[in-house]
Amino acid sequence: MNITFNRVSANYQLGPIKQENILRDLTAEVLPGSFTAVIGPTGAGKSSLLKLINGLLLPSVGEVSVGEVVFTAKASKEALKQVRKRVGMAFQFPEHQLFADTVYEDLAFGPRNFNMSEKEIETTIKEVCQLTGIDRSLLERSPFSLSGGQQRRVAIAGILATKPDILVLDEPAAGLDPEAKKQILDMLYDLHTAEKLTTLMVTHDMDDVAYYADDAIVMAEGQIKAHQDVRTLFANQDLLDQYQLDVPTALSLQQQLEAAKGQRLKNRALTLTELANGLIEEGWV
Ligand SMILES: Nc1ncnc2c1ncn2[C@@H]1O[C@H](COP(=O)(O)OP(=O)(O)OP(=O)(O)O)[C@@H](O)[C@H]1O
Ligand SMILES: [Mg+2]
Repeated sequence: MNITFNRVSANYQLGPIKQENILRDLTAEVLPGSFTAVIGPTGAGKSSLLKLINGLLLPSVGEVSVGEVVFTAKASKEALKQVRKRVGMAFQFPEHQLFADTVYEDLAFGPRNFNMSEKEIETTIKEVCQLTGIDRSLLERSPFSLSGGQQRRVAIAGILATKPDILVLDEPAAGLDPEAKKQILDMLYDLHTAEKLTTLMVTHDMDDVAYYADDAIVMAEGQIKAHQDVRTLFANQDLLDQYQLDVPTALSLQQQLEAAKGQRLKNRALTLTELANGLIEEGWV
């Protein structure tokens, strides 16, 4: 499903105080089935951009379309309802939204809202537990008795239980240990591929961008500064420097090796496998 931003600006209104132009003149098209990383410094507007996709934040100017649903400054309730069925959104620290007495009830909440039958809900819960690696013995436990990593899985399973076409993930692995992080991101990536989802993910980790994303949106000061495929992004050192973006570990290693040797490899490696291949092919090792 296509997501387009057409000259979108947006504000936050806190009672009488208006935070003007948090997002400014955004124009972009996110292609169906793509995996897009949203990157940029803190306060750049990355989370706000994601909120535009399910109508949590409405444009003050311009329009956002998600498939055939269009959001302008005045979104209808119907548009919001339609889009929330399609878009699964994991906020930063999604486990903060766990609330029910048991894991089962938490996972059943979204599907019940969308009028799934109890039988379908049971099957769906089995599926998402399997997908996210939640042991079914946990279903009758209180979500608050689980470890942080398990809570994160339950929160993400709850989002997947509504069977979204679009996944919007705000730093889904933040605060997890490296193993739990890899498991969650690999699982989301596999699901993205198997179900042909359209996925947007905010991350501060350039290795995540290199391993999982096709494209990247670079945000700074509430604007989209670049929207391009990941290889083009990491080939553009000036752009990376301008927005203080790191490079993936493999590329950083490559740059150190090149500096020591006073010579360059033909291609910029985004993963360790690519780097190893480059070093072997060009006879450096
Ligand atoms: N609910 C809100 N009310 C008022 N202002 C907000 C609100 N949420 C965000 N802002 C402001 O909007 C701007 C963009 O914030 P946003 O959370 O989108 O940034 P971000 O790129 O996600 O940052 P981070 O990497 O720290 O998560 C910031 O200046 C922030 O202070
Ligand atoms: Mg954020």
